[in-house]
Amino acid sequence: MQLDNALTFSHTIIEQVVLPGDLVVDATVGQGNDTRFLAALVGKTGRVLGFDIQQTALDETRTMLTLTGLRQQVELIHAGHETLAQKLTATDQLSAVMFNLGYLPGGDHSVVTKAASTIAALQTACDNLRRSGVITLMVYTGHPGGEKEAAAVEQFVTGLPQKTFQVLRYQYINQQHQPPYLLIIQKR
Ligand SMILES: C[S@@+](CC[C@H](N)C(=O)[O-])C[C@H]1O[C@@H](n2cnc3c(N)ncnc32)[C@H](O)[C@@H]1O
Repeated sequence: MQLDNALTFSHTIIEQVVLPGDLVVDATVGQGNDTRFLAALVGKTGRVLGFDIQQTALDETRTMLTLTGLRQQVELIHAGHETLAQKLTATDQLSAVMFNLGYLPGGDHSVVTKAASTIAALQTACDNLRRSGVITLMVYTGHPGGEKEAAAVEQFVTGLPQKTFQVLRYQYINQQHQPPYLLIIQKR
């Protein structure tokens, strides 16, 4: 047995929580890897809201989802995840929200997630999470602005009320080069 890396561990947790028919969010679509993973879990009766500010990322993800037969249950939204609240009704309950922060590998490295919009989306995600639902955040600190965003996210999650949320950090602590780490929020 080998320990999961941070990204794999996020999937290990999410697949134990999400059921067919659920409503879930990929807050940072990028190449669509998490979107595809979520779409397979919720199935055709479920719904994935996928956000990205880069149209090319959405276009490539749309093609990939069509080829893999997972297009039907995914709504790709060309807008920042900070607009998540506008896509939800008062009765919507989210079972999972995935954030993969930073820049798109192989894409424009100057387009990065930013503290203010990440925190706004995170607040909406927490407000609309169902009981036992989870939010995962892959956090990167190695790029310009990454440390600042990570500090804001850490401040937000450590301030979440313990009675309502559990927050876990999954991080390898003996590696060089600032590897990404994972934060997991679960609603009790
Ligand atoms: C690390 S990549 C995501 C990787 C993706 N999960 C995958 O599997 O390929 C981060 C993505 O966040 C997007 N992004 C940046 N700011 C955003 C925002 N405010 N709302 C939504 N997406 C944003 C970027 O365009 C980029 O595609």
